[in-house]
Amino acid sequence: MNKRITVIKGDGIGPEIVTQAMRVLDVIAEKYGHTFEYQEINAGGNAIDLYGVPLPEESLQKCLDCDSVLLGAVGGPKWDHVEPARRPEKALLAIRKAMGLYSNLRPAKIFPQLADASPLKPSIVAEGIDFIIVRELIGGIYFGKRRTEEIDGQMVANDEMTYSEEEIRRIAKVAFNTAKKRGGKVISVDKANVLDTSRLWRKVMEEVAKDYPDVTLEHMLVDNCAMQIVKKPSQFDVVVTENMFGDILSDEASMITGSIGMIPSSSLGDGTRGLYEPIHGSAPDIAGKNLANPIGTILAAAMMLKYSFDMDEESTAIEAAVEKTLDQGFRTGDCMSEGMTRLGCIEMGDKIIENLR
Ligand code: IPM
Ligand code: MG
Repeated sequence: MNKRITVIKGDGIGPEIVTQAMRVLDVIAEKYGHTFEYQEINAGGNAIDLYGVPLPEESLQKCLDCDSVLLGAVGGPKWDHVEPARRPEKALLAIRKAMGLYSNLRPAKIFPQLADASPLKPSIVAEGIDFIIVRELIGGIYFGKRRTEEIDGQMVANDEMTYSEEEIRRIAKVAFNTAKKRGGKVISVDKANVLDTSRLWRKVMEEVAKDYPDVTLEHMLVDNCAMQIVKKPSQFDVVVTENMFGDILSDEASMITGSIGMIPSSSLGDGTRGLYEPIHGSAPDIAGKNLANPIGTILAAAMMLKYSFDMDEESTAIEAAVEKTLDQGFRTGDCMSEGMTRLGCIEMGDKIIENLR
């Protein structure tokens, strides 16, 4: 197959980790007889430096005109002073919106090899951590109206949170379909004791649940969920939630698996074209030092093969190569533990490629 991949290396550690993922993809292409054509674009802080805007029109066009997008990370303190409308993160939000990527899947699965690196008690880890967060990605407070104005001599800021039934219904379907293929249990997370958007969320979840008699639905308040994730993570199979709750809970969920550096994510809409990225940020403090963990991005590339290109075997081969590398005791600094061998970003890429061949 011939696939066109738009590549956003981005800022901070982005270029280092994406480079390793592209090397892995090249090996897959060679082994399985595919052609991956890359079109690299600027987006985020690097685009601000070059063009004065986080997402030049041409970059956005290349996201809309490709088979999928692979992204490292965008942003960093260098652009903290930039006016809100031009911040690097704006690029990511605009791409998600323009591509219609309403469903963001973020797995929280512990690699047994990394159990030591989890900050949770071994007894809790031993019960198992294997769930997936389905985050609504292009609605809610992230995309509501915003304004800051002076009222009665003081500044007042306002961010609007809106959800329509249709926006909730389509993400609910993704969650139930995902649960059908997994443990058959959806926990919908909201703040229905306070928010109207959450009360509508609950109602629509209940309606959609009727079409999935083999999947169970429970509701959980977001504050309780934050607690339950560290108290008893084994109870979760599929967690579905709105945009901002999902942002927060997915960072928490990734941490208990041992390293935020290991977790990939997919963002999809109604078609097969998606955006794939690690869930961590641009880590400017370690950028350019060959310290970053490329595994999250490499696994994101594996997700792209599976979900967007229907290349299950190829995807599984990458996952197996990563597992094998961990089995061999190789670690980057973020998930290092006693007795393991510490590698840099490039060397980790080398090992995974060696195992893939
Ligand atoms: C994420 C990030 C983004 C988000 C930021 C960079 C806008 O935190 O993908 O989780 O909040 O969605
Ligand atoms: Mg986040």
